[in-house]
Amino acid sequence: MKISHSYLAFFLPSLVLADVFSPDSSMFPDWSTKSKFLPTHLTETKRISSVAVSPNSKNAVFALNAYNNTANKSGTNLRILSMADSTTNDLTPYSFGASDSGPFWIDDSNVGFVSVRGSPNSNLFSVSTTDGSVVQVTNYTNGISGVVYSSAAKRIAFTSSVFQGMTMDESAEEAEVIADHPSSGVVYDKLFVRHWDTWITKQRAQLFTVPVKISNGTLAVAGQPSNLVASYQGEWGLEPDFYTFSPDGNSVLFSAKIEGREESWQTEAGIFISPADGSAAPTRINSNFKGAASNPVYSNDGKYIAWLQMATPGYESDQNQVILYEIASKTQTRLIPDFIYSPSSLAFSEDSKSIFMTVPVEKDSPLYQYDLAKSTLTRLTADGVVSSYNQVSSDSLVITMSTFQFPDTIFTVSTSGDKKLKKLSTENDANLGSLYFSPTDNFWFNGAMNEKVQALVVYPYGFDPSKKYPVACIIHGGPQSSWQDGWSYRWNPNIYANQGFVGIIINFHGGDAYGQNFTNSIQHNWGTHPFEDIMTGMDVFLEKAAYTDSKNTVALGASYGGYMVNWINGQTDRFNALVCHDGVFSTISMSYSTEELWFVEHDLGKPYVESQRALVEKFNPERYVANWVTPTLIIQGELDYRIPVSEGLSTFTALQRRGIDSKLLYFPDENHWVLKRPNSLKWHSEVLKWIGKYTSTKTWSWEY
Ligand SMILES: *[C@@H]1O[C@H](CO)[C@@H](O)[C@H](O)[C@H]1NC(C)=O
Ligand SMILES: *[C@@H]1O[C@H](CO)[C@@H](O)[C@H](O)[C@H]1NC(C)=O
Ligand SMILES: *[C@@H]1O[C@H](CO)[C@@H](O)[C@H](O)[C@H]1NC(C)=O
Ligand SMILES: *[C@@H]1O[C@H](CO)[C@@H](O)[C@H](O)[C@H]1NC(C)=O
Ligand SMILES: *[C@@H]1O[C@H](CO)[C@@H](O)[C@H](O)[C@H]1NC(C)=O
Repeated sequence: MKISHSYLAFFLPSLVLADVFSPDSSMFPDWSTKSKFLPTHLTETKRISSVAVSPNSKNAVFALNAYNNTANKSGTNLRILSMADSTTNDLTPYSFGASDSGPFWIDDSNVGFVSVRGSPNSNLFSVSTTDGSVVQVTNYTNGISGVVYSSAAKRIAFTSSVFQGMTMDESAEEAEVIADHPSSGVVYDKLFVRHWDTWITKQRAQLFTVPVKISNGTLAVAGQPSNLVASYQGEWGLEPDFYTFSPDGNSVLFSAKIEGREESWQTEAGIFISPADGSAAPTRINSNFKGAASNPVYSNDGKYIAWLQMATPGYESDQNQVILYEIASKTQTRLIPDFIYSPSSLAFSEDSKSIFMTVPVEKDSPLYQYDLAKSTLTRLTADGVVSSYNQVSSDSLVITMSTFQFPDTIFTVSTSGDKKLKKLSTENDANLGSLYFSPTDNFWFNGAMNEKVQALVVYPYGFDPSKKYPVACIIHGGPQSSWQDGWSYRWNPNIYANQGFVGIIINFHGGDAYGQNFTNSIQHNWGTHPFEDIMTGMDVFLEKAAYTDSKNTVALGASYGGYMVNWINGQTDRFNALVCHDGVFSTISMSYSTEELWFVEHDLGKPYVESQRALVEKFNPERYVANWVTPTLIIQGELDYRIPVSEGLSTFTALQRRGIDSKLLYFPDENHWVLKRPNSLKWHSEVLKWIGKYTSTKTWSWEY
């Protein structure tokens, strides 16, 4: 199949309503007041995380990470925000290399947090909001993370990686013994051998609680850690990920993947309740399901538990069903069974009468409130992606939210559904306030199977509708995720807009924000519906938007987006150049070298089963290498164990042997994502240089 590209002349009527094909000039700023948003601004953007509101709702605390390009140094400190007047101050001082994180309130004037600060590893500290004095609470050699505190339980809970059957101290010693062994050889007799960016060792993250007492206003450890999952009587171990104390402090509720021989191809996760002191084995309350489960929470009245449950075994992108569990009767009820979307997080309201949830819906991921008595769902936020929420009164919440125009920022929002935001944090106003962020526009078109598909559009810096601009088609990964109107540090559409490109993002079939059938449609269809959607979306856009230069287009993508770039290279020569970051070259080799087998086996089929072999081969980009003609930049991280380095090397070899202009940008110290900020600057420099070269566009490059 070779898609021939039509350059139909399309004349807009002279009088049309302003829309994405004919944007109104009032949407754009006075250009003399705006500078370009550059990769150097992106890496210096201050990152807010872990917002926690004090018990009296007067203050919020959060962690703030800041990076300095010139010094190449970053640090994370705690900041405190007064809810009354929105002033923010350092709670712990900022310094390069500081790593204060995961703050939580002990009481209204003491905050616990995890840091190293000269201790043997990550430990718990506390800081007084009155005088800033810091006290070290734990001093473990085996590091801890994710600390949760319950005054009712008089305990903290945390995770720490230990060898099976060993205490934290024994594990720290064992790790030293292994490090001192003269041979580095490691023997495996089961998968996983490695996961994400780490080779598997015999240590596993386990869930501990330890008794604490209040001493001089802060916490002091008052006993030995208990491993809550050591006595789990199932066939294999557990690796808890999300945990919380019951309101009465007697229990800990957690989700945990069921581990064992099948863990690399199964997704099954249990929802467990354990005595808070670990005096008995945890009991599972969702044994009726064999799919993934996540985000278990208690209602404040202690009567209910809710969590997100997938029904299909081995399918990580199945719909998250909202399950309500009545503790007394041990009965489960599926809430909002007619909802076609898949919530990504949930929490009970303080009065236990409703459930807040974030849900990817079309181009946004808003916050919803579900009223349990009335069975009604109210949308609380409009444009943007909500990443956290804390209730502060009966009718308001503190949320963190971002859009294409601003990174995660703290706001208050009402439960009335008026969707009005009050901005509280101003950390990035000075850095980003005078820069251009394009309005985010969108359009719908009839894509594959004649179903509606949404595309997002950003406009170039200095936009003049009478000119023609090059077009950057940015293709999302996943593939079961959708591109949303939220901030990204890796693929930020406004970077391309500020370099003179019209940016278009087509939310093709397989995405997770358009109903579960839309998501499911990509199974065994990696090369069909998404490709058709991208080609049709581009045709519609280039024909209707007179400000686009249809002969000057490039396509870029990572992960599944990189797969699609390689697939595109075998099917069409419509793009001037391509960028493939950590993309699949061969569906066969990737199926055997990747780590999360459930993903490829569900999506593509099992290449080692004769009857499924053809399915896996069908959409293999490698089969069409003989058609490749488009110049391509390959980017690959060595520590990418999802789409391993051999995929990037194979793509480069194919291009070089076919004599096609190509470059390989290799990062020895990056995983599936480029996380280090000097590497992000290098990444942007090479990507922009490449797409600039092939569209005759002068682009930014990193001067170092
Ligand atoms: C960044 O680091 C450079 C070099 O150390 C220093 O001169 C500059 O003041 C720093 N910038 C900020 C905003 O702290
Ligand atoms: C930047 O800092 C990191 C972390 O300290 C260091 O590993 C790296 O070598 C530095 N890079 C440059 C270009 O100075
Ligand atoms: C923490 O433990 C280390 C030994 O691992 C010890 O040298 C240090 O003094 C301890 N610190 C505190 C504050 O107890
Ligand atoms: C109690 O805390 C204060 C500061 O918060 C400190 O000055 C004092 O030494 C502490 N007392 C004890 C007994 O640790
Ligand atoms: C989703 O697909 C199923 C099975 O094909 C069908 O029964 C159902 O009506 C579809 N749902 C929607 C919302 O289109």
